Amino acid sequence: MNATPINISPFSPALGAVISGVDLAQPLAEETFAAIRQAFLDHGVIFFHDQHLSPEQHLAFARRWAPIDINRFFKPVPGYPEIAEVRKEAEQKTNIGGGWHTDHSYDEVPAMGSILLAREVPDSGGDTLFANMSTAYEALSPGLKKTLEGLRAIHSTRHVFGPQGGYAKATDAGERIGNAAAAVQEVSHPVVIRHPDTGRKTLYVNSAFTLQFEGWTVAESEPLLRFLYQHAARPEFSCRFQWRQGSLAFWDNRATWHYALNDYHGHRRLMHRITVQGSPIPPMAA
Ligand code: SIN
Repeated sequence: MNATPINISPFSPALGAVISGVDLAQPLAEETFAAIRQAFLDHGVIFFHDQHLSPEQHLAFARRWAPIDINRFFKPVPGYPEIAEVRKEAEQKTNIGGGWHTDHSYDEVPAMGSILLAREVPDSGGDTLFANMSTAYEALSPGLKKTLEGLRAIHSTRHVFGPQGGYAKATDAGERIGNAAAAVQEVSHPVVIRHPDTGRKTLYVNSAFTLQFEGWTVAESEPLLRFLYQHAARPEFSCRFQWRQGSLAFWDNRATWHYALNDYHGHRRLMHRITVQGSPIPPMAA
């Protein structure tokens, strides 16, 4: 297998890189894979265009990184239980992932990353925003960094995927999100984690799944969490990716947030997502 010379271009000053000169449908040479992995770690999210992968090729690319972390709540692509469908039909109003979040932060061992492949996209709209949680952390004051490094936060799915959660209340989301009875877990993670591969400190709370700081009430947690969410969502920490059919994005769930814009009512958008397993979050050491 020959190594392909690939091109890696930074996408925005905050995060992201566009990679060209590679066909992800083909098995990747070790050297090519290593270059893609380094770009993923350096930039937090990597983008490819014109990747018209079959579900089997999408799965083979994902397995190259880590075993697959099957999402318990998304309806799978028919015939492919390991691929989650992210769908919005022309007549639907609710989209999936329409707020800043990081996938699977509610798991004891959060996912490494998610590989999203655009199957069908509107002519305009339906972009995805990404934000860099290492840069957001580094921009905080030394005093707040010190406070945050001593804290843990509780993450859950109940209020999102549970029987009384946001998707259950949205009248048109029901057939796309299921298994509400499984939305019972509550886990605690450090508020600042050290990225297992880059060693960078990263802010690890998000407005979708984080409930409160451990040992604090919801009311006590709310002002500081609100500040962190506003701070980390600042435009200079983020980028906006415009999809084409066959575009593929692979983001690092330990280092970034993402937000699927819901500005394309009346049009269909269909994406296939595979999430790959991460490693346990180590206790924070200075
Ligand atoms: C997601 O939150 O995983 C979906 C992102 C998107 O559809 O752009």
